[in-house]
Amino acid sequence: MRATPSRKITVVGAGYVGSTCAQLSALKNLAKEIVLIDVLAGRPQGIALDLNQSAAIEGFQARVIGTNDWAETADSDVVIMTAGLPRKPGMSRSDLLETNGKIVRQVAEELRRRSPEAVVIVVTNPLDSMVTLMRHHTGFSARRVIGMAGVLDAARFAYFLAEATGTAPADVDAMVLGAHGDSMVPMARHCSINGVAAQDLLSEDTIGELAHRTKHGGAEIVALLKTGSAWYAPASASVAMAEAILHDAQRMLPCACLLGGEFGFDGLYMGVPAILGAGGVQRIVELSLTAEARALMQKTAGSIQADVATMRDLGLM
Ligand code: LAC
Repeated sequence: MRATPSRKITVVGAGYVGSTCAQLSALKNLAKEIVLIDVLAGRPQGIALDLNQSAAIEGFQARVIGTNDWAETADSDVVIMTAGLPRKPGMSRSDLLETNGKIVRQVAEELRRRSPEAVVIVVTNPLDSMVTLMRHHTGFSARRVIGMAGVLDAARFAYFLAEATGTAPADVDAMVLGAHGDSMVPMARHCSINGVAAQDLLSEDTIGELAHRTKHGGAEIVALLKTGSAWYAPASASVAMAEAILHDAQRMLPCACLLGGEFGFDGLYMGVPAILGAGGVQRIVELSLTAEARALMQKTAGSIQADVATMRDLGLM
């Protein structure tokens, strides 16, 4: 399998999410060069060497470059930003605002100078705030700065729906909108199994329980792991977005996008269905919401607005 010619992906942060993103990008041959950058000396280099040594077995052509030097990231087509601290048990994602905000601001400044044409996928938490900050400090057009979360949250919901209905996860379509936090909005009405409405197969109570588990899906894993948070599904979600962009696939994926009036919000980053292709977000897809869903979207928007206000108070933007 030939690597997509002359494409370059940079993954910022060589933790579990970042290194898994690098591995999945290599396995999918998404780029000729996959640069993994981290502040820790040796870690990205070690992971890159390990991944490159799997190339002969896996048969990928992509070359992974581990580095601590931003110069190596120059002219990336896609950047996946994973650097930052994960939650500890009992923490909310918002507790990471100040620490991770400083990291995102620094990275944004490097990206602005070194990869001015890149599409940036932000994974660092608290997601909706960090993507807001990334856009602010890169100054890139909003279609090129996108947050990863809806794909992950919907995949979690889909997995739970598949388990409950005894069907294959690949046959389940699930939708989760809003913030990547406790106020996210799982959309039961828009979930189906190969076209069969989930509501026809499961009781309202059961779907409600699965939606609740989805909302706390990240925290459930944090509590089990005790140190760190999830990485396999977050990395799969991030690389699915990168793939849609690099292959100009026009996939409709839920992502955190800057709203300009859609869903009744202006100037706010929030999880909504978007078409991803070359150059990032092609357009945001609006759908009709029930009164209940509209109220939940208001509430979730309020939680993002509160975090953005805190970032202004902290002088982060
Ligand atoms: C989670 C982290 C990535 O939801 O926010 O697992």
